[in-house]
Amino acid sequence: MEKRLSVIRAARLAGVTRAELQSLIKGGQLASFDGLVEVDDLLRLYPETRLADDRTLERVEQIKAEALGKDIAGRSLPDPQVLAQRLARLGTQLTRTRQQAEHYAAVLESLETRLRALEKSQDAETRAVVQDIKHTVQSALHERRVLSYAAGSGLDGGSWWMSVLAPQVRLVPDDHEFLVEGADTILEAALRAGLSIGYGCSNGNCGECKARIVSGEVRDVRPHDFVISETERAEGYALLCSVAPVTDLVIEVGVARKPEQIPVQNIDAKVREIVRPGPHVLVLKVQTPRTRRLRFLGGQYARLQMGEDAVEALVPLANCPCDDRNLAFHITENREDPFAVHCFEQLRKGATVRVEAPFGTFVIEHEIERPLVFIACDAGFGPVKSLIEHVIALDRVEAMHLIWVASGAVGHYEDNLCRSWEDALDHFHYRPIRVNAASDVDSWAATLAGSLERIQDPGLPSYYVAGPERFTDAVRELLGRLGVSNAQCRYQALPPRPVARGHDGGDAIAG
Ligand code: FES
Repeated sequence: MEKRLSVIRAARLAGVTRAELQSLIKGGQLASFDGLVEVDDLLRLYPETRLADDRTLERVEQIKAEALGKDIAGRSLPDPQVLAQRLARLGTQLTRTRQQAEHYAAVLESLETRLRALEKSQDAETRAVVQDIKHTVQSALHERRVLSYAAGSGLDGGSWWMSVLAPQVRLVPDDHEFLVEGADTILEAALRAGLSIGYGCSNGNCGECKARIVSGEVRDVRPHDFVISETERAEGYALLCSVAPVTDLVIEVGVARKPEQIPVQNIDAKVREIVRPGPHVLVLKVQTPRTRRLRFLGGQYARLQMGEDAVEALVPLANCPCDDRNLAFHITENREDPFAVHCFEQLRKGATVRVEAPFGTFVIEHEIERPLVFIACDAGFGPVKSLIEHVIALDRVEAMHLIWVASGAVGHYEDNLCRSWEDALDHFHYRPIRVNAASDVDSWAATLAGSLERIQDPGLPSYYVAGPERFTDAVRELLGRLGVSNAQCRYQALPPRPVARGHDGGDAIAG
């Protein structure tokens, strides 16, 4: 059984985020070898870790699920055939381990017999050496027993149950890791982990999710019409939207890191819900067909078109790309804007909304090493929410700060959500600020400067700023005055600037 664990598994077992363990590794408190940590070291730092009990894990997942609005109830157990196959493999592994243990026991017994014989020696020096060897062996055996007991596992402190319920997948060459839980396919699990791998229909028809399994075993769990040739099968190719892992896997597949790597898609979606979190703002929730999901990166925006008059607008996506079917948009009241008027007065549940997306470059750098500071003004919270949820799904950032400036009637309309993030995540800090809409940008900037000064973070942060153009301009100037380099900042002015029609990816902003 394993004595070393990957960081992602160790974090799940200890009930902490991967970012927290990475910070300990960086600080030298936790040793890591080739990306693996020792079970013993993990137990010393987190004595409460229960390698054979998932209660802590469940609790943390529950909190995160509530904070992020994710449904974990629907993915409790893997497909029965897959589970049976994983258990059969575990049985084989257990038998091998038992045989190994019996062999070691026999070796120990013979060693003991020989040591007993040597103990009878007349030579005092030999007797001392024998005593020393016996003592060393006994201490090593005792220490092993204590650690196994602390782990609450009869199986040498290994995370055997996790390999059955949540096999690990590593994507090469980019080296991303995630766990596949419940009845998820590999594609679903990758998306939940915030990773944008290539796909189209999610339904086994288009072949765009085809990838090579470098090591490990998978099993078909969803029917698919797309045919993989025998030669490709022999080379290890599989459709990631149709298979689940039987064992831990290494898969060769690219992960989109930049907006230009994701094509613009046109999808007819339906209004699922219209929520009014405040008198002057609404959250529009639309659902795509099961076979036409929207692939995008957190923070990007869409062109929405609806109604008999085909009113349209560019609106930021306000949900995590890990939920590619249930899209959210935050829209503020504006009597001058026909699109906003239509949304507030005529739009009904079930109406069709044409979604053309994704556009924009307000996205998270994939190699996130710095702390992140998000600064939103009013409905600028929409794209920032999308970014934050994407970052939480990626689970790589060690510190996040959100400053939400509410300038008038719109208010902090999702204040409870921000507070639940802060409660659930040790590394997330939230500061709501209220300013007078009538006051000038200089007084906004002064209030914001005070909040930025209070952020005590030793790292060099990256800044993500979204809100009305006069706000993003003011923050740009402020950050410049504070000595923050432009390379550390990304801005999304609202409404987004028009995009060229027929755009096929790349820089989405026209002219
Ligand atoms: S996404 Fe179309 S076959 Fe998998």
